[in-house]
Amino acid sequence: MCGIVGYVGNRSTNSQPALDILLHGLERLEYRGYDSAGIAVVESSEVRLARAVGRLSELSSVLSSRKDMAASTLGIGHTRWATHGAPTEPNAHPHCSEHVALVQNGIFENYLTIREQLESAGYVFDSETDTEVAAHLLHSFMQKQDDELTALRSLVETVEGSFAFVALSAEQPETLLLARRASPMVIGVGEGANYVASDVTAILKFTRKVIYLENDDYAIITPSEIQIYNSGELQSREVVEIDWDVSQAERAGYDHFLIKEIYDQPKAVNDTLSGRLVAEHRNFQLPELSGLADHIKKLQRTKLVACGTAWHAGLIGRHYFEQIARVPMDVEVASEFRYQNPIIDPKDLMICVSQSGETADTLAAVGQVSGACPILGVTNVLGSSLSREVDAFLLTQAGPEISVASTKAFTTQALLMYLLSLKVADLKTTISEQDLAQHLQSITQLSPLIDQILQDTTEIKSLAKKYHEYDNYFFIGRGVAYPVALEGALKLKEITYYSAQGYPAGELKHGPIALIDESVVTVAVIQAEEPFFSKSLSNLNEVKARKGKVIIISDATNRETELRSVADDLVFVPNVDSIGRDYLAPILMTIPLQLFAYFVAKELGRDIDFPRNLAKSVTVE
Ligand code: M6R
Repeated sequence: MCGIVGYVGNRSTNSQPALDILLHGLERLEYRGYDSAGIAVVESSEVRLARAVGRLSELSSVLSSRKDMAASTLGIGHTRWATHGAPTEPNAHPHCSEHVALVQNGIFENYLTIREQLESAGYVFDSETDTEVAAHLLHSFMQKQDDELTALRSLVETVEGSFAFVALSAEQPETLLLARRASPMVIGVGEGANYVASDVTAILKFTRKVIYLENDDYAIITPSEIQIYNSGELQSREVVEIDWDVSQAERAGYDHFLIKEIYDQPKAVNDTLSGRLVAEHRNFQLPELSGLADHIKKLQRTKLVACGTAWHAGLIGRHYFEQIARVPMDVEVASEFRYQNPIIDPKDLMICVSQSGETADTLAAVGQVSGACPILGVTNVLGSSLSREVDAFLLTQAGPEISVASTKAFTTQALLMYLLSLKVADLKTTISEQDLAQHLQSITQLSPLIDQILQDTTEIKSLAKKYHEYDNYFFIGRGVAYPVALEGALKLKEITYYSAQGYPAGELKHGPIALIDESVVTVAVIQAEEPFFSKSLSNLNEVKARKGKVIIISDATNRETELRSVADDLVFVPNVDSIGRDYLAPILMTIPLQLFAYFVAKELGRDIDFPRNLAKSVTVE
């Protein structure tokens, strides 16, 4: 997904040159996925541009011969993930229009109409992108209007869609112009210099003070001044101090971010519980819900909307909600929900789950429901669009998740759904004090149990060696093990590029079983709880009868003989012998699946943290 970084310093006061700052920022944004990159600076009253297809190393090598760009203290940079036009150098950002250069994330939906008008006015286009339209349009407004602020406002009011952009003009060598609508943008407040980025990690090395822009904000920033406007009115926006460290986002010695993030999970769980489980676990608090407490007491129905891994966590959340709180929950994929003309009752509660808080489909779902019933967000990113657009939000404390394939976000989302369902049950008085205390006691065992799984991965590594040449997988589960199977399949397909299909175990016989033969591996997630245990074994017997390979992941340590009768390989996860067992099992059984995907991908030498065709945060539809 595209990334933006911008910098405005002051040469006369010896501000740092722009190039190093921009390149560092772009490196921090690499995790979002991209296929080309570029930088524009202003030098000697002209725009100087360097762009390259591929990794940032390509751009760096172009820049190494561009001494004419080295001293500038004003610049913008971009990593592009192609949406309009192929990943080519002419389509890479920044796009220029004489003295104007502009980078953009998102989509200008009416760009074709504007392009025709600009072409009639004599503008010549070098790319297929919607972004070049904005560069020319800003240029044309600057020709007609007295000042750049008016030109900027005209641009914001003319373009449609969701976007964030930063522009500069060689005629204003100490000014950046920027705006956002439904796409993230943050200003970094420095001393004698200011910063802009689509993601705070890009500028954290330089400043911890940031301002998150609101929808339709547009701003002019200079080294010493930040002016933010909305609909012509000057705005006062809060400066937020970021308290997490850049080193949190580093690999910490692991080969890949993905494996680091898998190992982060015990801590992520503890951090997510921190401040929430108190008083010897007999009580707990979710103060973020205080404004919704009266609503929740009368709650009859919930809807949960999310995408990808967050949707899988939501499906596990449904199990928690319906079993613990006895409140029905519809769980929908956001890209479908947004066009369903949903039936919402004001007494409902909508829950939107998103690691990044920037997923376009999930945000569109929020927009659909806004005002119709209260919306609760579950996100990992404080200050994200989701956290700002909902009535209340719960923060998963997973820390920055860099690898495209989501792991620790999933674990903490599922955990928060568990806590949330307990809180709803508590508020609705549908759970006894004793049961609640036992659940909370069980939850404290989650982090040590994940740690126990991670202590010894030899078994999973040898499974990966054994199976890494099998390229066709089914992942099956029943009940709450079904979303775990979906998640296992998604992890494997994302980072190995193997075919991996998640199915409810009972559905195999309704068609997919036609594909089973000795070349197909079925990974079965089997929880101890009956009738799921016995029914899953029957399904696997059908697979064995067709010579399919079977790997079982289970917490049913007391039923090893039965499991071994159908399994080619068996992996146990530890269990907690208490009320929380069936609620913690899905989270615990996900861990070996994450590890299996990782080690198979490693055997195959895949680009694990940046798998092909994928982006960390899908901010376009
Ligand atoms: O940031 P979000 O949680 O909203 O992202 C949703 C999905 O795009 C995301 O979970 C995606 O499926 C991951 N690549 C899964 O590993």
